[in-house]
Amino acid sequence: MWYLPLHAHIGFAGHVFLYDVRKNGSLAVVTPRSVRPRLLGVQDATVKDALGDTGIVLFRGFETAPESFHAFASRFASRFFFMPVADRASHPLAKELQTVTTGQFALNLHFENGNTPMRPDLLWFYCVRPAIADGETLVCDGVALWEALRPEAQRFFLEHEIVHRNTFPERLWRSVSGFGKEGDPLPEMTVLDIGPGTRCRLNPDRSMSIEYRTSAVGSSRFARDRRGFVGNVLPDVYADDPLPVLEDGSPLPEAVIREVDETAAGLTSRITWKAGDVLVIDNTRWLHGRRAFEDPARTILMLCAVAN
Ligand SMILES: [Fe+2]
Repeated sequence: MWYLPLHAHIGFAGHVFLYDVRKNGSLAVVTPRSVRPRLLGVQDATVKDALGDTGIVLFRGFETAPESFHAFASRFASRFFFMPVADRASHPLAKELQTVTTGQFALNLHFENGNTPMRPDLLWFYCVRPAIADGETLVCDGVALWEALRPEAQRFFLEHEIVHRNTFPERLWRSVSGFGKEGDPLPEMTVLDIGPGTRCRLNPDRSMSIEYRTSAVGSSRFARDRRGFVGNVLPDVYADDPLPVLEDGSPLPEAVIREVDETAAGLTSRITWKAGDVLVIDNTRWLHGRRAFEDPARTILMLCAVAN
């Protein structure tokens, strides 16, 4: 393990405030030097610089609470997603401040909502209480993953788009897309023009089927000059989510998926949580997952943000 000091900031709200930003492998780590350090004292430029560089930043050693976590993340967000799903619980402070997926099972590497055109730019995590053992969050840099794929696999993803087909209940598509609330008059389909490559269909039960055609290769919103692997192609993220297919409806070749899976596994790092940690991930660049654990008290809150 090695540390490379990037820079430190002095002076905030009239008093001396010092913190360090270091690189630990591909992770940027912000740690305070002062006594009773406030997370809100970390300057916006520090976070934005680190997001453009590493795309993943851990804030460790600050005084944190759900309120300061929410306030800090809000400085970089134009809005947060609220996911009205059974496997996430909202915090009393704000409905969008939700637990990560409940349960103690492992989650394969994925991009949050990466199978839809409604992908949050930033994922903010706040560790209230780590698991007594295991339960690390897994992260893999899509830029490094792309660079590590063999030319044959790269060519495949450059030549083929992938198609995700999913159906979402009304409360979920309403909440994530921002079109009113459950039971409101159904919108004209023309206003549901979420973006190129997307086709939406409203079903008689008011659920929405979304066909989302996209490339698995793209650039990060925060590091546009760097090409990365940005597709949700690995199986078993959630048991109910169908795998993407090719434009003609055929499955992606097994060997290609296996190569992505094995290459990503070799590039995956673990975030070993400490209580009070805050982590932000560029969800247009980094895949995330988690290791299984056995501790019902593990509590990680998260915010899914559209960046401002
Ligand atoms: Fe996730």
